[in-house]
Amino acid sequence: MTITIRSVFIATIAAVILSVSLGQSARADQHEIKFRQSVMKAVGGTMGGLAAVLKGEAPSSHADPLAHTMYELSKVVPHLFPKGSDFGETAALLTIWEKPADFTMAVAAYQAAALNLSKVVHDFDMGTFGPAFAALGKSCKGCHENFRKKKEN
Ligand code: HEC
Repeated sequence: MTITIRSVFIATIAAVILSVSLGQSARADQHEIKFRQSVMKAVGGTMGGLAAVLKGEAPSSHADPLAHTMYELSKVVPHLFPKGSDFGETAALLTIWEKPADFTMAVAAYQAAALNLSKVVHDFDMGTFGPAFAALGKSCKGCHENFRKKKEN
């Protein structure tokens, strides 16, 4: 009796392991999408932090580390769109893979804006912080308008 229960148990475990590994390979693209969205959320959160500093709702001493974080994140963004991550639960438009040169330009504009902001803040030139932040925001919008699905509401 004990042996039977144990073998049923082992067979069940084996079946679970098999289905998990099969599921994983079928959903590899979904992992890439999740990773992309996680990093984009970090980009959005960092932007929110910078906006708070700009509005005077948070100490200006936070501007430097936040701008630096944005610049570091901008190095990850070009790697968030591997081929095959164009379907599933994603707001990414097919245009990303159909017009790679345009997409590369949108990434480059964002990286340049993030680098500029990190330099401006590093020198503690808060007078140019506003325009540099606005330029960064424009680079987000520039990509979202062309390469991200519009929100339904
Ligand atoms: C080069 C293109 C590009 C740039 C630049 C870009 N984004 Fe995105 N962003 C996307 C795409 C595409 C998605 C949709 C990702 C998905 O659903 O797979 C997205 C999604 C997001 C999301 C939603 C994440 C989620 O799923 O919850 C936020 C927030 C966001 N971006 C903020 C920003 C901010 C802020 C900036 C600028 C500082 C920025 N993005 C710059 C392309 C870009």
